[in-house]
Amino acid sequence: MKSTSGFLLLLFSVTAAIAADVTIPGEGAYSVSNLGGLPDEPTSVTQPLANKLLDVLEKYGLTKNFGVVGVHSHVSLAPGQVMFQHGNSTFTHQEIEVYNDLRSDGVPYTYRITTDTIPQLLPLDLGEITPNVLAARSDLAGAMANKAFLQEFAEKASGHLAGIAYIRPLDRMALEHSEVVKNHYNAEKTAGNATAISLAAVESDDAPSFFTRGVGNSTAVSEITMLILLPVSARPADMETPGRTK
Ligand SMILES: *[C@@H]1O[C@H](CO)[C@@H](O)[C@H](O)[C@H]1NC(C)=O
Ligand SMILES: *[C@@H]1O[C@H](CO)[C@@H](O)[C@H](O)[C@H]1NC(C)=O
Ligand SMILES: *[C@@H]1O[C@H](CO)[C@@H](O)[C@H](O)[C@H]1NC(C)=O
Repeated sequence: MKSTSGFLLLLFSVTAAIAADVTIPGEGAYSVSNLGGLPDEPTSVTQPLANKLLDVLEKYGLTKNFGVVGVHSHVSLAPGQVMFQHGNSTFTHQEIEVYNDLRSDGVPYTYRITTDTIPQLLPLDLGEITPNVLAARSDLAGAMANKAFLQEFAEKASGHLAGIAYIRPLDRMALEHSEVVKNHYNAEKTAGNATAISLAAVESDDAPSFFTRGVGNSTAVSEITMLILLPVSARPADMETPGRTK
């Protein structure tokens, strides 16, 4: 009898640990205004800049679970709305939801880091809560305990629209198989899916938006993890051909 209740207690506490969120010191509150002024394209972050920002992530122990993102927004959200994503290692789906309905079901996957005098870590979206994302949040809580982390990131970003994002199982699987993740949005841009594609399937209009380090089998200083379809007019002249550099 005693051991049965002990077992139940253990089961209960494991479940509670998965459901309980990790508090991150200095994490900003989600608001649609966090996406204010973001362009459709992530081109403000080039690969050389991503390398410098990844150096900062590495210094604070974040490269295992986070990468650098060129922050952008494909959707237009009304006040009170949020992009919510869920998925697995081969497919993710995201769509516009009411923030108050889902705030306790998700945690931020993507953050903008502002380059104000006092930089801020501002959530841009929400994703489902999994043991992996909670482990990532513990890493982020550790980095954020040191005020120098955001300061150094913001200094290196030097006004560019940059942030960090959780390396999802989909991104990790793609990297481990020398693939990249590509986002597809519906015409109204209210929902999107992402899947991995081979490097051979990368098109000339695809632009990198997410950079990681040391996740795949590459020895490159940064691994390009995610692509978005970029209007030709928005491609900067120095944009490198997408694909992981060796
Ligand atoms: C991921 O989810 C998609 C859509 O629900 C499903 O078709 C696919 O089989 C899942 N993949 C894995 C590895 O579970
Ligand atoms: C990359 O490494 C992973 C994990 O070690 C392995 O499963 C995978 O087959 C490797 N991929 C390539 C293309 O070598
Ligand atoms: C996402 O995938 C689902 C299931 O495969 C499909 O029904 C839906 O149309 C897709 N949405 C987009 C925006 O591609």
